[in-house]
Amino acid sequence: MTTIFRVSIIFPMLDHFDLIASIYDRLIGPPDTGRLQQLLQLPTTGWLLDGGGGTGRVSYHLNALVDNVVISDLSEHMLKKALAKQVNPVRAHIECLPFSDACFSRILVVDALHHFCDQQKAIEDLLRVLKPGGRLVIEEPDLNHKSVKVLALVEKMLLMRSHFYAPQDIREMVESHGYSAAIENDGRYTAWIVVEK
Ligand SMILES: C[S@@+](CC[C@H](N)C(=O)[O-])C[C@H]1O[C@@H](n2cnc3c(N)ncnc32)[C@H](O)[C@@H]1O
Repeated sequence: MTTIFRVSIIFPMLDHFDLIASIYDRLIGPPDTGRLQQLLQLPTTGWLLDGGGGTGRVSYHLNALVDNVVISDLSEHMLKKALAKQVNPVRAHIECLPFSDACFSRILVVDALHHFCDQQKAIEDLLRVLKPGGRLVIEEPDLNHKSVKVLALVEKMLLMRSHFYAPQDIREMVESHGYSAAIENDGRYTAWIVVEK
């Protein structure tokens, strides 16, 4: 795969994910990847990008269902944990990915969109690196639920710089780039925004 190194951004020193990287997987627990597999239509050929994939907690379980997995994240310490999981960690801003156009068959973003610096730009660059016919699935806490509104407030008070968006707002961001998106939810507090390019 050809990569173009377009990243010329000064990384922040240590963020809160660096600080909790050593306990992150135990803190959050193992993922339930059943719904993701279904929405991503796995197994498939080609490469999967896990955007803001951190320690590889989620995509490690999808490794056998694609040709290869790349985890892109900003936190060096989270990526060090991913190294042990037979995935390919790449340190980069999601808003400016160091990959050529249309090189991933599948992209997932789990519980990370609200942590990105610029959600609109992140979605634009994720769509750029997605192959035509490929799928992008964004999993986010559903801001339409009261408990998620409380979580958003708590993260604000903890100065975590997160910006939660309701699923319909995320869909609008996708649509502003000329693609349509579907919203799925589990009837509780998780929503998935699914894009077929
Ligand atoms: C809550 S963690 C989720 C990690 C993983 N997706 C999971 O579910 O286990 C959010 C991740 O987003 C990463 N992140 C935050 N802002 C980012 C950015 N602008 N570019 C790339 N990664 C970013 C953080 O370093 C962190 O690893």
